[in-house]
Parts: sequence; C-alpha cells; structure tokens
Amino acid sequence: MQWNTSLYDAKHSFVTKYGEDVLALLAPKAGERILDLGCGTGHLTQQIAAAGATVLGLDSSPEMIEAARREYPSLEFVLADATTFAVAEKFDAVFSNATLHWVKPPQAAVKRIADALKPAGRFVAEFGGTGNVAAIRKAVRSAFHEIAGEDKPDVYYFPSVGEYATLLEQHGLEVQAAWLFDRPTLLEGDDGMTNWIKMFSAGMLRGATTDQINRATAIAERTLRTSNYQDGKWIADYRRIRIVAIKK
Ligand code: BEZ
Repeated sequence: MQWNTSLYDAKHSFVTKYGEDVLALLAPKAGERILDLGCGTGHLTQQIAAAGATVLGLDSSPEMIEAARREYPSLEFVLADATTFAVAEKFDAVFSNATLHWVKPPQAAVKRIADALKPAGRFVAEFGGTGNVAAIRKAVRSAFHEIAGEDKPDVYYFPSVGEYATLLEQHGLEVQAAWLFDRPTLLEGDDGMTNWIKMFSAGMLRGATTDQINRATAIAERTLRTSNYQDGKWIADYRRIRIVAIKK
C-alpha cells in the first residue's frame, strides 16, 4: 500500500509517542547495533541513535524510507521486506513498533528477526494484539458489505500472547516478558475516525474504488459514533501485544 507520510506524521503522531514506551523497554545503549524494523518516518530510529547506538532503519514502504532519509540524512535507512531481509552483520537488538501486524506470514518475519540477532541479543516489539480495533474493523467491513454486497477478508495479524510466544520459541527466542493490554487511543479532531480509516484501513479495503472507500468510511464513521465517540472525542479501540525475547 502507498503511505501518505504527511498525514501519518501530522495526524497520527501517537504512533511515535506510544512507541517511546517501547523504546524505554529496549533501553538502547551506546555502542550497540540496533535494527529498527518498520522504522516508518524514522523518528524512533533517531531516538535510538541519540542514545549512542548504531541504528539501521528498515521499512518496506518507499514513501516512508524517502521521508525518513529526508528528515534524518545522517542515519542509515534501507528499503526491505520484514519477511525476506538479510543482514551482513548481526545486531544486539531488534526493535519494532506498530509494524508486525502488517507482516505476513509472521513465521517468515520471526525467522528473519532471529537470524538477524547475535546470541543473547534482544527482540523488543509492540504491535496490534488479538481483538485490536475490533469495533472499527467490524464497522468498516460491514459498511463495505452494505455498499458493495461482498465481504473483504480480514488482512491483519493480531495474535494472542500464547500464539506469538509459541512462534518465538519455535525460532529460538526465549520470551522473558509479554503483555496484552487495551490502549484506547485518542484520535485528533472531529474527523479523527475518518482520517484513521483512510490511513489505516487501506489493507482492509484493498481493491475498492475511491468512491466505495469514501462511502464505506462515512457509513462506518456513523456506526462508530455510538461506540467510539465519547465526550466529543474519537477513540480507537487499540489492543497491544508487547514482547521482550532473547535469542538463545
Ligand atoms: C494498529 O496500529 O493497531 C493498526 C494499524 C493498521 C491497521 C489496523 C491496526
């Protein structure tokens, strides 16, 4: 999918802001080599570098990599796919924020992550967990059904802790901590839900025409007013899975 990096940074800066909690869990140290998997526009990559680590930002979106290189020209960014990338030199840590729910098959990404780590290297990640944005997904799919008379498949990977921990263990990563938690997320402005759906539902509405997307978004927004609009504010029903694992 094509990313609008300006809309991403202007209206969805919470992605980076919440990522700072995951960064605290990573605790990057000076001299470490760290891979930022799904670096997006590079703001967290920059924070890892500011801790004195040598960091490589990797993303599969040409628009994101271009924006990151423009904003942080002194940092290294590479356009690559999380399921196929290979590294010349292994890393002390792989960090990933708000990315792995896009990546399929997840087995391939976990294999690449495990291969990219030095022994005792750490994998610290957060992404959408089971039940993530359930109300929004339901409303968008049902709106699309209403206007087009067909169902769109659910495209994201939102695992449970048990499922993901098992996958990590199968690839030689020992899970030291794992969380699944609700994180209701405030969306900016009265058009917050419309912007969110347009930005993040492209995968769900793949193949739909612009007119269908606009109509489905308007219907879904109306439905979600009863569940996701409180005190004049739009809330996305995020649920996050957060993981710390070590390569054995
Ligand atoms: C998320 O960050 O939770 C998310 C992103 C895109 C689609 C669905 C959820």
